[in-house]
Amino acid sequence: MSYNIAVDGPAGAGKSTIAKLVAKKKGIIYVDTGAMYRTMALFMLRNQIDPADQESIIAKCREAEVTLGFADGQQVVFLNGENVNGLIRTEEVGNMASVISVIGEVRRNLVEKQQALAAKQDCIMDGRDIGTCVLPNADLKIYLTASSTVRAKRRYDELVAKGQSCDLEQIRLDIEERDYRDMHRELSPLKQAEDAILVDTSDMTIDEVVEKILSLSKERD
Ligand code: DC
Repeated sequence: MSYNIAVDGPAGAGKSTIAKLVAKKKGIIYVDTGAMYRTMALFMLRNQIDPADQESIIAKCREAEVTLGFADGQQVVFLNGENVNGLIRTEEVGNMASVISVIGEVRRNLVEKQQALAAKQDCIMDGRDIGTCVLPNADLKIYLTASSTVRAKRRYDELVAKGQSCDLEQIRLDIEERDYRDMHRELSPLKQAEDAILVDTSDMTIDEVVEKILSLSKERD
C-alpha cells in the first residue's frame, strides 16, 4: 500500500511550498491538484467560454485531457499533450479554476486521476478536498491555513518577485471571494476533515511548518 499525506487549505496558505519541501525530505512525490483545475481553466479561457455558462463548460471539458508527468521530482501538467506548466500561475487562471471547479463533471474526471496516482505512488497531495473526498484513508491529513491578510501579502510578494504588477487590496478581495466560493460550493467544499490536523501558518516560518509536518508523519510511520 502506498503512503499518502493529504494537505488541504485555502489559497495562499503555503500548501504547495510546504508540500514540495516535505516531499523532498521524505523522498516521495508532490501532487498539486490545483494545477489540474488550473489547466482545465486555461482550456476554457483559451476557448473563450463564459464562466457563467455551465453547459458550455461541461461540454467543453470533455475535449480536454489533463495529465501529469514527473521530471526530476517536479510535477509537469499537460493539456492535450502540451506542457502548460508555465501558463497556469496567473490570477486570471486561478479565479477561473475556482469557478469551474464547482462543476461535478469537471471534478469527477480529475479526482479519478488523482486517486489512481495516489494508489500507485507514495505522495503528498494538496488541494481543497484531498482529506475529505480524494484520499479519505490518507495516512496523515493536514489542514493548512493562515489569515487572509497574511495570505494576500504572500501572494502579492510572489507576483512582485515574478515582475507582475498587482494591487494588494485587490488580491485580498479576490482571495476572500475565492475562499467563499471554495468553502460554500455544493460539491466537495473546502473544509477540514474530521481527522485532519489544523496548522495555522500565519506566524510560522516555512521551516517550522515543514518540521511540524515531518514530525507528525514520523509519529505515524
Ligand atoms: O490551489 P490552487 O490555487 O492552485 O487552486 C485553484 C482552484 O482550483 C481553487 O480555487 C479551487 C480549485 N481546486 C479544487 O476545487 N479542488 C482541488 N483539490 C484543488 C483546487
